[in-house]
Order: sequence, then structure tokens, then C-alpha cells
Amino acid sequence: MRFFKGPLSAAVASQLLALLILLSAVRFFDGLSLATWQLLLVQGALAAIISRPFGMANWWLVLHLLFPLLLWLAMSWQIPSWIYLAAFIVTLLVFWNSAGERVPLYLSNQTTWRALSDLLPAQDSFRFVDLGSGLAGTLSYLAQQHPEGEFVGVESAPLPILLARLRCGQQHNITLLRQDMWSLNLAPFDVVYCFLSPEPMPKIYVKARKEMRPGSLLISNSFAVQGCEPDQVLELDDRRRTRLYLWRM
Ligand SMILES: C[S@@+](CC[C@H](N)C(=O)[O-])C[C@H]1O[C@@H](n2cnc3c(N)ncnc32)[C@H](O)[C@@H]1O
Repeated sequence: MRFFKGPLSAAVASQLLALLILLSAVRFFDGLSLATWQLLLVQGALAAIISRPFGMANWWLVLHLLFPLLLWLAMSWQIPSWIYLAAFIVTLLVFWNSAGERVPLYLSNQTTWRALSDLLPAQDSFRFVDLGSGLAGTLSYLAQQHPEGEFVGVESAPLPILLARLRCGQQHNITLLRQDMWSLNLAPFDVVYCFLSPEPMPKIYVKARKEMRPGSLLISNSFAVQGCEPDQVLELDDRRRTRLYLWRM
């Protein structure tokens, strides 16, 4: 199924194939005596089944199942078309990297902030970077706890970086860069933190090994790197049992 590159094209292909099968069935069985909402659920279920060989994550099944029905409901409410456009633009500005990089926006929780804080030097100055800093909640907390540290956030999505700048404007030890994380040199940093997805982790690890100084620390929230044993794994006491993977360079 390599022809359909990326989850979006696979999702569109699944829905179109499901629609085609459903239309053929309706013709063949002379109308199928089902209500519209039932037909739409059947299409959603077919799309969910068809999407399996594409190797899409499990949550796509729910999206596939409900998508035709929700689309129909939205159309029947006669919502003005500019609202769809506005929603699309906001989604694009927030989830800038989701399709290409396969890294959506979700945030580190406060238990993680505290665990990270415990890992940072208590007195000495140091440099910390959050690769894909999102709304900069992690940076804002750590910068308050460690006024002697220098904190850098790199974020490429336009809306999160704007909100992060508003949030951290008064914090003198935070620098926020609207930049692709791959173009940032990691050599100046004592601690590199990331909370991304399984997709970019092998490349992040190779970049870290190449650029980070001996003794510096790479921390990945939740995502390990296959075949690269971390020096330490911390399991946090939160609801999702967050794991922090630590590699000392
Ligand atoms: C899961 S969020 C983590 C947010 C924040 N680090 C935290 O822990 O709360 C990942 C962020 O990485 C950003 N991102 C993904 N790829 C990126 C890239 N190539 N360059 C910069 N930021 C990127 C996304 O836009 C998203 O905001």
C-alpha cells in the first residue's frame, strides 16, 4: 500500500472506496431499505475496514466510522461556509507539522514538568532546549523554577509559537524561535528535551549523537528509539504512566 503516502491520502482513498462499494450495493439491491444515517454509518464502517491494510493508527477507525455521518449532520445544520474555512485555517496553523512530520500538538503534563525540573542542575547555569515547544508550558514552568538556566523553544507551527510568545513575553530566560528543529544545532545545549512521536525519533537520536557535547542529556517524553537502549527510563506517577527516556551523550 506504498502508493498512498501519508495518512491523509490513505484516509481519502478509504472513504472513496467505501462510497463506491456502497453506491454499487445500493444499485444492486435496488435502493437498500436503510435510513440515510444508517447508510452513512455503513459507509464509515466500510471505510474503517478498508483503511486497515494502510496501517493507520487505531484512532483513525473511529474517525472513519463517524466521518460521513458528521459531515452529513454539519451540512444539514447549514453552517455558513466561511466557518469551515476559518476552522480549516486555524487547524492548519496549529497542526502545521501533523501530516508531513507526523507530530501533532499535545502537551507535556505538570507531573512531567516537575520530573524534568528535578533532572536539571539546582544551582549552576545551563542551556535547555525543547524541540517542538508547542505552547511553551514546559519552558515557562522550568524557567521559573531555574532562573539561572537559559531556555530555548523551537517551534514551527505559527499559532502555537504566537501563543507561546504571549505567554512567555515577560520571562527573560526564555528564547522562542520559529524555526524547523532540524536546522537547529544542538551543540550549545546541556539538556535537549522532546515530546514528538515515534516517527522522527530515530532521526532525532542520530542528530543528537552527532551534535550534542559529551556529558549532555537527551530526554524523550514517551517515545523510545528502537535499537538504542536509553541510559535511564523514568516512569512517572501520572494517569498515563508517562515514561521519560534519557540518553547521556
Ligand atoms: C507533542 S507537541 C509537544 C509540545 C511541548 N514540547 C510540550 O511538551 O508540551 C510537539 C510539537 O512539535 C512541533 N513540531 C513538529 N515538528 C517540528 C519541526 N520540524 N520543527 C519545529 N517544531 C516541530 C509541533 O508543531 C508541536 O507543537
